[in-house]
Amino acid sequence: MYWLGIDIGTGGSRALLVNEAGKVAADFTAPHEEMRMERPLWAEQRPENWWDAAQAAIRGVLAAAQASGGDVRGIGLSGQMHGLVILDENNDVIRPALIWCDQRSQNQVDWINQTVGKENVLAYTANPVLTGFTLPKLLWVRDNEPHNFGRVRKVLLPKDYVRFQLTGEYASEVSDASGTALFDVVTRRWSADMLERLKLDRDILPAVYESSDITGVISEEAAAATGLKAGTPVAGGGGDQAASAVGNGIVEPGIVSCTLGTSGVVFAHMDRPLYDRHGRVHTFCHAVRGAWHVMGVTQGAGLSLQWFRNQLAPGTDYDTLTAEAATAPAGAHGLFWLPYLMGERTPHLDATARGGWIGLTAKHQRADVVRALLEGVSYSQKDCLDVIEQMGVPVEQVRVSGGGARSPFWRQLLADIFAKKVITLETQEGSAYGAALLGMVGTGAFSSVPEACRAAIRETDSVRPRPHESQQYQRGHEVYRSLYPILKPVFGLIQNLGH
Ligand code: XUL
Repeated sequence: MYWLGIDIGTGGSRALLVNEAGKVAADFTAPHEEMRMERPLWAEQRPENWWDAAQAAIRGVLAAAQASGGDVRGIGLSGQMHGLVILDENNDVIRPALIWCDQRSQNQVDWINQTVGKENVLAYTANPVLTGFTLPKLLWVRDNEPHNFGRVRKVLLPKDYVRFQLTGEYASEVSDASGTALFDVVTRRWSADMLERLKLDRDILPAVYESSDITGVISEEAAAATGLKAGTPVAGGGGDQAASAVGNGIVEPGIVSCTLGTSGVVFAHMDRPLYDRHGRVHTFCHAVRGAWHVMGVTQGAGLSLQWFRNQLAPGTDYDTLTAEAATAPAGAHGLFWLPYLMGERTPHLDATARGGWIGLTAKHQRADVVRALLEGVSYSQKDCLDVIEQMGVPVEQVRVSGGGARSPFWRQLLADIFAKKVITLETQEGSAYGAALLGMVGTGAFSSVPEACRAAIRETDSVRPRPHESQQYQRGHEVYRSLYPILKPVFGLIQNLGH
């Protein structure tokens, strides 16, 4: 008997089968088309491509485990958050999705703040509205593509579009809905105040469930397309960060995660919805009933390394690059990387921020350049951790996951820069694994998410901070933090150039 977790990521869709004990039996990833960036800071993907990839991943994982659809007892979904999928009256996708890192909607954010009032937005949704969130993206379509806006009948998040294809239901769950700027995170339902003030119709939004609730079952059509069995229950699941946190056991106070994917996220569990007055971190519903989470986001974490490899070191694999970085000294001979390749969220909330190296000299070698890049991303994650600690959220240990955490060198760097013990878990499957656990809870295999985590999650490795290096990085972090405020006016000038 298996449970299936499906994660609709940015780079690909990943399907994972786990058994009764929560052990991974098989996995399969189907890549997505590259995100389309027609202009700097714009980012789009085709939802139809996610659905194609999800079908391939489901078929692939069933084949890898030599299982049939009838062996799957329940399903959980996870996916990249904040993306805008709009459907017309025939349920056809109206235009490509503006995805999480798309930053084109500053005018709409300003308009929302004027129309609703900044303080009210915070009171209604527990967060400031940001360019990355779904609502301003929808209003960008309203303002720039009225012909498309007029056809909108449903607004869905990425994984919920795949859910619609699987079950025929328009449904979401609390953790992903939290990132739309239309959700009352405190009461865990759509914000009637936001909808009313913005004159948006509640009917364009899906029903919202708790993350482990069952939202529908596999339809006959989806069964034919995927090899799953019609009638198999599909649980709410979670936004990729909340699902990854479940997969990492971040379901009680004190344990914090750092997930280095395309973005980098520091995530902490909360028993009540505390929020940062400046809105530098997000306060969202957790995928655990009656719990919330706070997270800080580095927009360009793994993306920094991916960009470097694709543009400046084509054909080189990531292991070679991190091994090269390890040959440079800590501090990379005074070189700093600002990872603001898609603007920045925590702590700057600035869609216009730009990335770059500061401190280059003719002595620098490629090893320094890559090392500075990894250090810069880690400093940015430390910024996230600092804000979370300043809010009074306890941080005793950090569990790392995601592509970046596969590198022992990067794990040690994180331990040194965070000055905290960094733990790795046996199952490094992040979001898809958390989604499968939510599917298990939804179908009664475990009675609660914390119980599922206690039964399934094991630590394998831990790295302690080295005092000398930690001190050195503390000084480096001060320099890193001084760079953004100095450069901020320059980012404005660059934007005025119209690029
Ligand atoms: C979280 C966020 C990213 C995306 C893509 O707020 O934007 O983590 O979900 O992974």
